[in-house]
Amino acid sequence: MSLFKCSHSIRFLVPLFLLPCVVTVSCQNVDGAVKGTITLPCAYKVPDPSVVNIFWRSEKGNIVLDIKSGREDLTNQHMKYKGRVSSFPDNYKTGNFSILLKDVRQEDAGTYVCHILPQDRRTTVSLTVSDNPDVASRVVPPSDGAASRSCLHVFILSSLNLLLLYVCQIN
Ligand SMILES: *[C@@H]1O[C@H](CO)[C@@H](O)[C@H](O)[C@H]1NC(C)=O
Repeated sequence: MSLFKCSHSIRFLVPLFLLPCVVTVSCQNVDGAVKGTITLPCAYKVPDPSVVNIFWRSEKGNIVLDIKSGREDLTNQHMKYKGRVSSFPDNYKTGNFSILLKDVRQEDAGTYVCHILPQDRRTTVSLTVSDNPDVASRVVPPSDGAASRSCLHVFILSSLNLLLLYVCQIN
């Protein structure tokens, strides 16, 4: 470990990289089929849904859906998701900010983030899309080892950051 000398810039940068990992507290897998409809889950109880903002983003940072002050805001929604995404406004009050994605395409597979502000709470959802229309859409329980593999990278990234931080602290 003595070989690893942390420069001041690394000392400074590591906590910055760590930040998004600390707030990524939840990661879920969803299975879906091409042309099907799936629910991307995001649930977090907030005191007053009318003052929170929810930012659903794709892996590429595209806007999937914004919910601002308790209302869907489609202004800057990415073309790819036009007419295919809806949420459950009646359920906002229970902290349910899940979204429904219709007419699922192969290219929809990937990671989605539901970012809740000002609470700064992030939920990561990993979507797997099957060509087989018989595959039922489902939210894979976290205990399902093989299926949760795609969530593993979130975990590994966080661990790597913690390790780096630790190494930097003791140097
Ligand atoms: C959120 O609401 C939708 C629509 O009623 C439901 O399907 C889903 O299970 C709910 N999620 C949670 C976490 O309650």
